[in-house]
Amino acid sequence: YGDYNQKIDYVFKIVLIGDSAVGKSQLLARFARNEFSVESKATIGVEFQTKTLVIDNKTVKAQIWDTAGQERYRAVTSAYYRGAVGAMLVYDMTKRQSFDHMTRWLEELRGHADKNIVIMLVGNKSDLGSLRAVPTEDAQEFAQRENLFFMETSALEATNVEPAFLTVLTEIY
Ligand code: GTP
Ligand code: MG
Repeated sequence: YGDYNQKIDYVFKIVLIGDSAVGKSQLLARFARNEFSVESKATIGVEFQTKTLVIDNKTVKAQIWDTAGQERYRAVTSAYYRGAVGAMLVYDMTKRQSFDHMTRWLEELRGHADKNIVIMLVGNKSDLGSLRAVPTEDAQEFAQRENLFFMETSALEATNVEPAFLTVLTEIY
């Protein structure tokens, strides 16, 4: 199952956005390499990883872009969103503020991305249930109102990470 001679049918660019420390880079590490780091450093600039999957008998290469949540480390906005067909809008379910900021991130996304972009709202760190600051219903309501898919994930425990990315990829396709 050599990656080399594989015929790629589609390349899909997906962007990760959300406040610093919500777990964007670790969601990507979990999805792309099945890795997780407790000592994840804040992202500077932009990074990306790819993962090739077969969806409905088509070989799809997901090219997932990850940038800094911190303003001063962020990549050039328009370049970051250019060509994106999917987006993961990530908050930390133990940090209310990161959820409240979703409206801003969504605004930026809608201002720069394609109209038909598939968006998944992701409440990460579900392993920290006892520290929950964002009720599932609040997020569901927001997602419904804004027409977004929604899942709660844990990059640490690998809960719902693959389903979240796969849902976006399948909906694009
Ligand atoms: P920026 O690059 O600054 O925008 O942050 P980020 O959103 O990429 O966050 P990152 O993935 O670096 O994770 C921040 C911290 O949260 C790290 O200490 C991670 O180990 C931790 N973390 C990420 N995902 C989870 C998770 O699902 N559960 C728990 N408990 N911790 C997590
Ligand atoms: Mg990061």
